[in-house]
Order: sequence, then C-alpha cells, then structure tokens
Amino acid sequence: MTHRPFARIAGLGVAVPDRIVTNADFEKTLDTSDQWIVERTGIRERRIAGPADSVASLSKAAAERAMALAGVSAEDLDAIVLGTATPDRLLPSTACDLQALLGADRAAAFDISAACPGFIYAMTIAEALIAAEQGRTILVIGAEKLSTITDMTDRSTAILFGDAAGAAIIQRVEGGDRGILSTFIKSDGKLANLLYRPGGGSADPISEKVVRERSHFIKMAGREVFKSAVLAMSDACDQALQRAGIGADQVDLLIPHQANIRIIEATAKHAGMPMDKVMVNVDSYGNTSSASIPLAIDQAISEGRIKPGSVLLLVAFGAGFTWGSTVIRWG
Ligand code: ACO
Repeated sequence: MTHRPFARIAGLGVAVPDRIVTNADFEKTLDTSDQWIVERTGIRERRIAGPADSVASLSKAAAERAMALAGVSAEDLDAIVLGTATPDRLLPSTACDLQALLGADRAAAFDISAACPGFIYAMTIAEALIAAEQGRTILVIGAEKLSTITDMTDRSTAILFGDAAGAAIIQRVEGGDRGILSTFIKSDGKLANLLYRPGGGSADPISEKVVRERSHFIKMAGREVFKSAVLAMSDACDQALQRAGIGADQVDLLIPHQANIRIIEATAKHAGMPMDKVMVNVDSYGNTSSASIPLAIDQAISEGRIKPGSVLLLVAFGAGFTWGSTVIRWG
C-alpha cells in the first residue's frame, strides 16, 4: 500500500432550511434571553427545517453541489456514507433513500451513527475504503434534522441546535501532497448518559409513556458535556497533528465542531491556535451536529480563507461520547 494521501475532498456542498429562528424568537416561548444565549453559547440564530425538508432532501441538495464542483455524476459514486443522529426513518438507512433520490445505482449506501463527529467518522471510513481499493469516488454526508429530537420546552437544549446538511466527494489521489494527511477517531461509551435520547429506540420503543415523559427528546448534562468536549477536542487536535507529522504552527485554519463559542475558544487555546486562524459560524447556525464541519468549511471557502495548499485541522466531539479529528492539505 502506498503512503498518504490516498484521498482528497474533490468537491463540497451544503444545504440549509430557509426558516431562521433567532434568539428573540425563543424569548417569546422560553424563560431565556438573547444576552444569555449569546454570552453562554455564541449562538444568535439557527435554521429550522420545515415539514417538506427531510434529511435525505437536504442531503440531496448538498450532494448535488458537491458533485458539480467535483465534476462527478451520481453513476460515478462507489459508496454513500451518511453520518446522522436523526435518520428520516429507522429502517432503511437515509443513505439508501439518498441513493435512490440521486440515482447513484452503482453505490453501496449506509448510515453511521457517531453524532456530532459523524462527518469526520464518515470521511475516515471513506478514506479507508479508498485506501483498501474498495472504491475511488465516495459521497460523504453529515446531515441532521435535530429540531425533531429537541425538546422545544427545555431552555437548556432548545436554543442550541439547528438543521443542515453538508456533503463532500472524497476521491482517490494518485501521488502529490494534497489530500487527507491524517485521521483520528475515538469513543467513550461509559459517558453515554450525559447526552442521550432515553426513549424511542428498541430498548424503550415509542409509546404513550415515552411521549408523555418526553424521553424521546435529547437530554443533556450541559456542564459535564462542556468539560468532556474541551478535553477530548484538545486531545484530538494533538493526535491528528502528531499523525500528520506537523505542528500547530503549520496549520492555516482550525475548523472545530460548532457547538459553543466557549468550547471553540478553549480548544483553540489548547491547540495554540490564535482565534484569527479559527473558523467560527456557530452564531449563524447553532449546533448542527454532523453537518457543522462541512458547513464551516463551505463558509471558509466562500470567505477566501481556504486556498489550494491550505492546511486544515478539523475536530469534533459529540454524544457517545465520540470524537475525531483530521488534517487535510486542501486542493
Ligand atoms: N436561558 C437562560 N438560562 C438558562 C438557559 C437558557 N437558555 N439554559 C440554562 N439556563 C440556566 C440554568 O437553568 C442554570 O440556572 P440555575 O443556576 O438557576 O440552575 C444556569 O443557566 C446555568 O446553567 P449551566 O447549565 O451551568 O450553564 P452553562 O454555563 O454550563 O451553559 C450550556 C449551558 C450552554 C448548555 C453549556 O453547558 C454548554 O454549551 N455545554 C455543552 C453542551 C453542548 O454543546 N452539547 C451539544 C452536543 S455535544 C457537542 O456538540 C459538543
């Protein structure tokens, strides 16, 4: 087997619902304030899906942009790997629904459940498939409709989340130094109950009791999650840099999962990255879980902050707990 890079991001696309919900909107329904939300989280507004938006339809829109930029068609796809915590249906996978919508007849399609680092996990799987010569062109998706699993009467979680989809075409490279330079993924299931949906799965199937107790919605111990997120994301930055054989001073842009500005600032501080080298758009979209990293990359590209040859450090953390990171030389 040759050495990295095996694969690169050949095209990227995103899609967000039209509806914007501001902090002022939450002031009308919850005991909260714009000032509290901005100070504690950095979030000012988020996008919330309408009934016509599904994870598959948002993913399709994002995927079509990514494929157009990469210059590939649906028939070129060898696989579709879709990270989501909010699949449209529990059976079959949303990736299979997306395959049918795209007409990607040659592809193997499957979902992965890795919460917020879902895009990094999916990209890691895609790169490994390419390295093992199981495919040359793979569609990776991070997409969520978190509004469907968020308790809009719980002020500690309602204000955090948003809906979105991000897509990337991961393509085999033949030589050169541009592409995925390292990946790192890790989990700690002992801490699962700090951030979870207790009901509605096969252990406690949806029932009148589950709905009455609202246990099909996300429950979160915010302060504990915050501490774990900072520790894990800091370690993940070190791991990806070490595996790529580079120092933080060689990174042009840190693109962290957009959960909370304070988590982002603490992670950047640990990594030794000044905030002018950190991508932040949590103010506009809130926490979109697995869609957050591609959404941030897309905005950084359109702002001219990513150029051919730029070195990016991506890092994310979420329910499970799960975390992961990757170093990419863009182009
Ligand atoms: N408006 C006003 N007050 C609120 C709100 C709100 N929306 N939410 C909570 N509070 C109150 C609490 O009730 C509490 O009141 P009390 O002191 O009277 O009991 C007070 O604010 C402080 O609550 P904390 O939970 O300690 O506040 P904290 O500073 O930790 O901020 C937050 C809460 C924003 C949730 C923070 O803990 C956080 O961001 N944690 C990370 C969670 C996260 O991002 N999860 C997403 C998934 S994992 C990931 O993506 C990284």
